Amino acid sequence: MSKQKLRIGMVGYGFMGRTHSNAFLTAPRFFDLPRQPELTAICARNEDRARAFAENWGYGSVETDWRALVARDDIDLIDIAAPNNTHKEIAIAAAEAGKMVMCEKPLGRNAAESQKMVEAVEKAGVANMVWYNYRRIPAVSLAKALIDDGKLGRIFHYRAKFLQDWTIAADLPQGGEGLWRLDKSVAGSGVTGDLLAHCIDTAMWLNGGIDTVTAMTETFVKEREHTLTGKVEPVGIDDACAFLARFSNGSLATFESTRYARGHKAQYTLEINGEHASIFWDLHDLHRLEYFDHRDQGTTRGWRSIHVTDGDHPYMDKWWVPGLSIGYDESFTHQAADFILGLDGDAAAPTFADALRTDRVTDAVLKSGDSGQWETAL
Ligand SMILES: NC(=O)c1ccc[n+]([C@@H]2O[C@H](COP(=O)([O-])OP(=O)(O)OC[C@H]3O[C@@H](n4cnc5c(N)ncnc54)[C@H](O)[C@@H]3O)[C@@H](O)[C@H]2O)c1
Repeated sequence: MSKQKLRIGMVGYGFMGRTHSNAFLTAPRFFDLPRQPELTAICARNEDRARAFAENWGYGSVETDWRALVARDDIDLIDIAAPNNTHKEIAIAAAEAGKMVMCEKPLGRNAAESQKMVEAVEKAGVANMVWYNYRRIPAVSLAKALIDDGKLGRIFHYRAKFLQDWTIAADLPQGGEGLWRLDKSVAGSGVTGDLLAHCIDTAMWLNGGIDTVTAMTETFVKEREHTLTGKVEPVGIDDACAFLARFSNGSLATFESTRYARGHKAQYTLEINGEHASIFWDLHDLHRLEYFDHRDQGTTRGWRSIHVTDGDHPYMDKWWVPGLSIGYDESFTHQAADFILGLDGDAAAPTFADALRTDRVTDAVLKSGDSGQWETAL
C-alpha cells in the first residue's frame, strides 16, 4: 500500500530553500517514515528563477505569491524559508488555513511576533516546528544524551561562540537580496537573532532555561548604503554581541557572536563543564565530540575525541558504515525525518513554543545591550 503523502509548499528558494528541499528528498530514502514527503510547490517572487528551482529540485508547480500557496487545498505543510520579516504573516495565514507549518529561525523578529505565531498554531491545532537544525548533528545529539544520562553531573559552566567575518568591509551595502541580514527592519536584529539564537536554542535544550542576561552589543559600521533606496542609511543591527547568562539550574554562561572575527566563516563552538565531566563541540569538526571524564583511570585520564560515526551514535545507524562521517546538510534531513515521525506520535521539538523561549532570551539580550543592566529572560 502506498504511503499517505505529505504535500509541501516551500516559501523561498535561497540557502534554506535548498537545504530544506534536499532534506525532504533525502529523509524518506534513509528513514522509514509514515508519510511520503512530496515537493508540491515552490513559492518565490521571481517566476523565472522559481521555475528553474522547481525543475532542479523536482517541485510540481510554482507560485509567486505566498497567499496563493497558502490558499491551495493540495498543500498539507507550509515551510517558510524566506527572510525573517515574512515569517509571522505567512505562518499565521498558514495555520489559519489549517496547514502544518515549519518555519526557519528566528521564529519572529522579536518575541511579540513569535507569541502571535504560537497562538495561531496552537489555536489551529496544527503541527509546527522551527528549523534549529544544530540539535540534530549527531555529536550534539550525543552531548544531549550524555547530559541526560547524568554523565556530567552538576553543570557549572556553558560557553558558546558563533563567529563570522563577512561584514567587515565598510562599503558593503545593506538590504535587498543577499544582504537583508544587515537591514534591521527585515532581520529584526543582527548577530543576536541570526547566530546567537542558534547558540541559545542548543544551550536551553542541553542545559535548561535561561533566567537572566547582561549583554554588550556594538555596531561597528554605523551607516551603509541601502541597496533598495540607494541612500546611505543608519545601520540598526548589532554587528557583535557578547553576553553573560544565568541558567535556572544555577550554572553560568558566556555567549559571544560577531561578524567581525577576521578568518572565521562559521565557527560555532560550545563547551560545557560539569562536576564529573566536560564536553566540547566545534561546527568545523562537526562529527567529533570532545569529552573529558574525571572518573577515568588516573594515568590515562585526558580529553578523548569521540568520532561520532558508530552505529549506536544518534542517527548514525541510518547512514553508511561505522567510521564514515556525514555533514551539515544531514542535520536538516534528520529534522525533516523527526518532524514527519512526530506527526503520528509525540511532536518533535523545537516547536514554535520552544522557539518563542529563545526569542525571549534574544529580546532580553538586546534590551540589556541598550540598558547596560541585567535583564530577565523569562
Ligand atoms: N537554520 C539555519 O541554520 C539557517 C541558516 C541560514 C538562514 N536561516 C534562516 O532562513 C531564512 C532564510 O534565509 P536564507 O539564508 O535562506 O535567505 P536567502 O536570502 O538565501 O533566501 C531567501 C529566499 O526568500 C525569498 N523571499 C523573500 N521574500 C519573499 C516573499 N515575500 N515571498 C516569497 N519568497 C520570498 C527570496 O526570493 C529567497 O529565495 C531566514 O529566516 C534565516 O534566518 C537559517
